[in-house]
Amino acid sequence: MTDQLIIFDTTLRDGEQSPGASMTRDEKLRIARQLERMKVDVIEAGFAAASNGDFEAVRAVAEAIKDSTICSLARANENDIRRAGEAISPANSGRIHTFIATSPIHMEKKLRMSPDQVVEQAVKAIGWARQYTDDVEFSAEDAGRSEIDFLCRIFEEVINAGARTINVPDTVGYNVPEQFAATIRTLIERVPNSDKVVWSVHCHNDLGLAVANSLAAVRAGARQVECTINGLGERAGNASLEEVVMAVRTRRDVFQCDTRIDTTHIVPASKLVSGITGFPVQPNKAIVGANAFAHESGIHQDGVLKHRETYEIMRAEDVGWVANKLVLGKHSGRNAFRSRLQELGIVVESEEQLNHAFARFKELADKKHEIFDEDIQALMSDDGLIVPPEHYRLVSSAFLSETGEVPSAKLTLAVGGKESRVESTGSGPVDAAFKAIEKTVQSGAELLLYSVNAITTGTDAQGEVTVRLSKEGRVVNGQGADTDIIVASAKAYLNALNKLHANQERVNPQI
Ligand code: KIV
Ligand code: ZN
Repeated sequence: MTDQLIIFDTTLRDGEQSPGASMTRDEKLRIARQLERMKVDVIEAGFAAASNGDFEAVRAVAEAIKDSTICSLARANENDIRRAGEAISPANSGRIHTFIATSPIHMEKKLRMSPDQVVEQAVKAIGWARQYTDDVEFSAEDAGRSEIDFLCRIFEEVINAGARTINVPDTVGYNVPEQFAATIRTLIERVPNSDKVVWSVHCHNDLGLAVANSLAAVRAGARQVECTINGLGERAGNASLEEVVMAVRTRRDVFQCDTRIDTTHIVPASKLVSGITGFPVQPNKAIVGANAFAHESGIHQDGVLKHRETYEIMRAEDVGWVANKLVLGKHSGRNAFRSRLQELGIVVESEEQLNHAFARFKELADKKHEIFDEDIQALMSDDGLIVPPEHYRLVSSAFLSETGEVPSAKLTLAVGGKESRVESTGSGPVDAAFKAIEKTVQSGAELLLYSVNAITTGTDAQGEVTVRLSKEGRVVNGQGADTDIIVASAKAYLNALNKLHANQERVNPQI
């Protein structure tokens, strides 16, 4: 058994199956680049046969990413596997992940296939996939509720047919750690050719046990864990990458293995995924929650000041938390800004991007004289690296919010470069601002989500707003950050409208 634990990230596939979390091609690319920087071994970029949008996204990731294996999911049929094979073809290293359900309830009620037919289909699928790549993974969907004898039989056959990784998903999050570990141990012992493959697990979090089940499986011999940033995923989500990685890193004595992950990229990855999907991270979430390293009790604070390890088992900086350091101010120049970005691991790919980001930094520095690393990270994750095709832009704004008066917003908007003034009232200033924008743009889009987050502490903190809009089956997330949360809200709404205007379709690959 090797001591390397392979990290298979499925944020861009299973993570994207969270209702409302689907992503555009460009958003997927940004996340994939961050995963590559983190040294994720395998990136499941999507489900190529789900739609043209998903195919294009997997292909774009396969073209751009050089240091991680790029994988596409495919059902066990010829068409899905052909689309997956074509989508991953530009990758330096490409994998096809094919699956079929193996539990009695799924075979009988969903597939309407006999166990013999399921085995036959699975074996054929491996053969089709091997025409495109040697790196083929097989998943027995709902393995967590499948019969062990049947799992042993199908796994032996797909390994003989050429599968290199065998994945055991607890699709509905039904298992508990001891039981799941026993399943993995039994499979490794009983499948005669089990030594020819890497054993993998994929756990869902319906009972809050996804990480515990994954780690129990690692102790039983699994050497690949499928997981997502922030535990994003179908229903209650998947095992969270940051928790799995930090558990094995911190307790190597228990797990007897480690990953290749550069953990200092974990917090930026979490912020990026949260910003793009609009799914906030709960403050007490392990590793990446805002309170994960905050000591409130006096006794704890005293202990940490005397000797950090009295109450801390990990160092905040090792997972990418940056000290609340005053970094730059309004007099800082472009070079200082560029080198701070480099220190934070933020890659700017062109002078145009740098200029755009620097202009945004100056705008912020005019309003907020203390700029922290977190402000810069927010600035850069809120589409700061992308020079957007801004069809709609907020030029200026005035809001009225006074006791006894009807709240109102007066906006000057640039639409396709032409400025116009518009006014509206509303139930509050944010509502008034959105109504004023709609008066001008008349998008008819439906507002699905509005959320506000403070980026740093203090009343001069920037508010980061996410607005999710839906129109004709397309869903977009817009982000805006500003020290004035009403302005941040208007910017977020316009950012979402710009995405709808630019036709940045969100692909929604539900299986
Ligand atoms: O949860 C699941 O079973 C899956 C498979 C497709 C691996 O996501
Ligand atoms: Zn899943």
